[in-house]
Amino acid sequence: MRIDILTLFPGMFDGFLNESIIKRAIDKKIVDVRIHDFRKYTLDPHNKVDDTPYGGGSGMVLMVQPLDDAINDLKKDNTKVILLTPDGVPFKQEMAYDMAKLEHIILICGHYEGFDERIRNLVDMEISIGDFVLTGGELPSMVISDAIIRLLDGVIDRSSHLNDSFNNHLLDYPTYTKPREYKGMKVPDVLLSGDHKKIEEYRKSEALKRTKERRPDLLD
Ligand SMILES: C[S@@+](CC[C@H](N)C(=O)[O-])C[C@H]1O[C@@H](n2cnc3c(N)ncnc32)[C@H](O)[C@@H]1O
Repeated sequence: MRIDILTLFPGMFDGFLNESIIKRAIDKKIVDVRIHDFRKYTLDPHNKVDDTPYGGGSGMVLMVQPLDDAINDLKKDNTKVILLTPDGVPFKQEMAYDMAKLEHIILICGHYEGFDERIRNLVDMEISIGDFVLTGGELPSMVISDAIIRLLDGVIDRSSHLNDSFNNHLLDYPTYTKPREYKGMKVPDVLLSGDHKKIEEYRKSEALKRTKERRPDLLD
């Protein structure tokens, strides 16, 4: 899979691309992530990519031309172009699964006050990572890329994400590791029993209980 990210702040991605599971996925060539500073596409003689809003108001607005040219340069027949914006479709785990099947995505990071409304006409999809406003689309694009990359074949053991929260409309079950007892808090006996059927039943019922308590909306 290939992910192209259009940003004005490429340095923000250094840690994300060079650590842990994402780095390993890149090294194993399971995913090819490319960061593009879309300032290089501007035709403005002073290298501008933003300007004041028509009609007045605060902040700077990203101009349509640099992003239009960047998308046209990178887009292929199989590309999905995605704009990060707080008023987009809320990002969900099932979207991560769908997007992990795509061959190529372009993620567009807004910044400042936002972007020229006409940029919406250049994209296939608009995504929000939650009901809050960040300074830019860089963190949202990392969130979405991370959620997708960990689902790609060969990145992590498939069985470890099949039981993750939000699969089958359930939250994950509780897990424990050594020691058996810590400051009076004990590991449930069933997990030490060696009875795999019982352990499976316990995990299913704990996942259901936790979902009912914390996220009953998932069961609707
Ligand atoms: C300061 S925000 C602009 C907010 C815009 N004025 C609004 O109220 O919708 C700058 C950029 O950060 C990104 N962004 C901020 N919060 C986001 C969120 N919750 N989900 C996705 N992108 C977000 C978007 O790319 C946005 O254009």
